[in-house]
Amino acid sequence: METKIYKVSSADSTLIKEAADILRNGGIVAIPTETVYGLAGNALDGTVTEKIYKAKGRPSDNPLIVHISEYSQWAPLVKEIPESAKALADAFWPGPLTVILPKSELIPEGVSGGLSTVAVRMPSDEIARKIITEAGVPLAAPSANTSGKPSPTTAKHVIDDLYGKIDAIVDGGDCSVGVESTVLSLAVSPPRLLRPGGITPEMLTEVLGEIEIDDAVYNKLAEGKEAASPGMKYKHYSPKAQITLIKSDLEAFIAYAKENATENSAVLCFEGEEEAMPIRSITYGKKDDALSQAKNIFDALRKLDEIGADKVFARYPKNDGVGLAVFNRLIRAAAFNQLEL
Ligand code: TXA
Ligand code: MG
Repeated sequence: METKIYKVSSADSTLIKEAADILRNGGIVAIPTETVYGLAGNALDGTVTEKIYKAKGRPSDNPLIVHISEYSQWAPLVKEIPESAKALADAFWPGPLTVILPKSELIPEGVSGGLSTVAVRMPSDEIARKIITEAGVPLAAPSANTSGKPSPTTAKHVIDDLYGKIDAIVDGGDCSVGVESTVLSLAVSPPRLLRPGGITPEMLTEVLGEIEIDDAVYNKLAEGKEAASPGMKYKHYSPKAQITLIKSDLEAFIAYAKENATENSAVLCFEGEEEAMPIRSITYGKKDDALSQAKNIFDALRKLDEIGADKVFARYPKNDGVGLAVFNRLIRAAAFNQLEL
């Protein structure tokens, strides 16, 4: 399949109409959002969502997020919008928050992966919103990576994974948040955080009062336990390298890396630490700056593959605020391999 590439520098670009035409006609198009690139298609057409699963190589029991550009698009997709959901939308939409509610009849089986609920979010990225508006339908969009690989935060990442498999890629530059949206279920009480992201637990608590953080945010899903969010049971964000996340001060980290490195090892460290490292390094943002770590983590994981790293020692991020999202992605990339020195 020929994949068109539209380089778009603002939401005014006439190329957006072309991309929206493809979407209206049942095609699938990778689009930028503030979190990561998404692989979008008409959320109300089950044959389109099938194409999305196929291009990504994604298991079809893992449901998709539906993207809207206007608040009024939400009500038809769900059974009802409770007060708590309205308050969240007021506070955080448009933005990196996904809200799960019982679904309406409009949602095809393929979008909800067999569940009785649907995940909806309104992205803040202007190009994304314009594409949704021009397409005239809500867009289902999982991250635009091959299933299992780190999520794409640049158009190049999307090209590397999906070129030739999808109709078009809208290149709107690098994503500003860099990790996928916060996923919160309002289909249970109290509300449950299923995936941490740019909207932090503290921010959600301020609006909702009590929330629960799903155990799978921190830990490996227990054998035989059903995942609240099907995405959590799959291997995720994984580079080819075997990563160990190391909780220690810088000095002990350096000594450990020196002692345990093999020929193709590398470290994943913070900016400014490269010089002190005993072996080659890839950085993932500044120490104690969760926003910069979030923006860089997926690119760093892809770079580890590019340099052929097979055994990687990674510096430990702080795991509060947006840092919880960074920690959550890294611990999965490390297949929960961690140690404290
Ligand atoms: O930031 C984002 O959310 C990006 C951009 C493109 O918007 N999208 C994204 O989609 O990350 P995806 O499909 O890669 O991740 C969606 C996650 C999966 O872990 C999925 O299992 C979960 O949300 N999910 C979707 N619908 C759900 C539902 N009804 N119940 C529970 N979990 C759901
Ligand atoms: Mg994904």
